[in-house]
Amino acid sequence: MFINESEILQPQDWSFPIPIMYGPGRIVEITDLCLQHGIRKPLIVTDKGSEKLPFSIKLQELLNNGKITFDVFADISPNPLDTDIAKGKKKFLDGAFDAVIAIGGGSAMDGGKAICLVANNAYDLWDFEYERKDTPQINANNQFPKLITIPTTAGTGAETESTAMITDTKKGMKFCVWHHSFKPNITILDPELTLTLPRNLTAWTGFDALTHAIEAFLVPSFNPLCDAMALEALKLVSKFLPVVYDEPNNISARAGMLVGSCLAGVSFLKGLGLVHSISHMIGAEYNTHHGLTNAIVLPVVLRFNLEGMDSQTATIAQNMHLEELSAAKLISEIEKLMGRTDIPDNLGEIGVPLDCAHRIAKKAMVDSATSTNPKKVSLMRMEDLVKTSIIGKRTT
Ligand SMILES: [Fe+2]
Repeated sequence: MFINESEILQPQDWSFPIPIMYGPGRIVEITDLCLQHGIRKPLIVTDKGSEKLPFSIKLQELLNNGKITFDVFADISPNPLDTDIAKGKKKFLDGAFDAVIAIGGGSAMDGGKAICLVANNAYDLWDFEYERKDTPQINANNQFPKLITIPTTAGTGAETESTAMITDTKKGMKFCVWHHSFKPNITILDPELTLTLPRNLTAWTGFDALTHAIEAFLVPSFNPLCDAMALEALKLVSKFLPVVYDEPNNISARAGMLVGSCLAGVSFLKGLGLVHSISHMIGAEYNTHHGLTNAIVLPVVLRFNLEGMDSQTATIAQNMHLEELSAAKLISEIEKLMGRTDIPDNLGEIGVPLDCAHRIAKKAMVDSATSTNPKKVSLMRMEDLVKTSIIGKRTT
């Protein structure tokens, strides 16, 4: 892909993998979009603390101006809980809403999707767990509400696909929920909405996107569509993440990150790897930020995964614009970028204790991302990876 910075801000409508309205300022089309989709009374779903942020206010003003009745559910936790989803379902049904508009970061996307999964049927949320074989039967009487996604961080990439990571509060573990016939109806990628994202969240969510692209590309299955998306995402994210960290108001860099994050999100339909397996379980127990946790675990897992994967490593390095294509150089560049964006050395620095390593490793072994990791891992090795992530020091 040739990245032309004067063209990157031109509005575009893409139709794959779902309809995508891309371009600065496109949030203003929300009312027309609701009317086109027959949406009369949407419930806005967002994460705790986002209800009063400029993007939420803007969305509410636009809906008010368009005379569209709505309400806001802003009780989604940073790591969404099954109890949040139950509350959201109740609000959706009590208010007789006909659609969800999910706006915010990954937790808002996942919260909105999970509420849609259960809103119109009597199934339990965990009936939609990814590994279950007996998929819930959804027919014309209980079909999913319409869903519009509006990401305001460039990282999660959760806006175009159907899966959501939710914490099971009884088990203290995160699980993936989804349904094969459910997808967001449309997404608005408006980079202006990401301009106010604080620097730390810009870096952390950016590292989530980088991790998605790398882990998806390394999944050992034949899927050229997802691989192409992963590599295009790597080009964009590695080019623009340092820029957007230094120049938060650079709209071209914000645009590049938002598209890169979206592409990386599509690429992980192929699967993910051990960075996510570990990060999911750390997040479920210690409520750490998902992107930050991934960033810290990424070099540790790459040291394990990349051994003997010279060709894949070279392809990743090439697409990250590196001249030297070795695993050592790739990992050291990632660690340099972590240092440059003020990401801590290890999970201990963000409050994860060493004595959780065995328990976290056991939980991570059954995470769905473990099965798509390029290398099989023993419990002992998994525990080593967790320990190194908790106490490790960067080598660069
Ligand atoms: Fe992620």
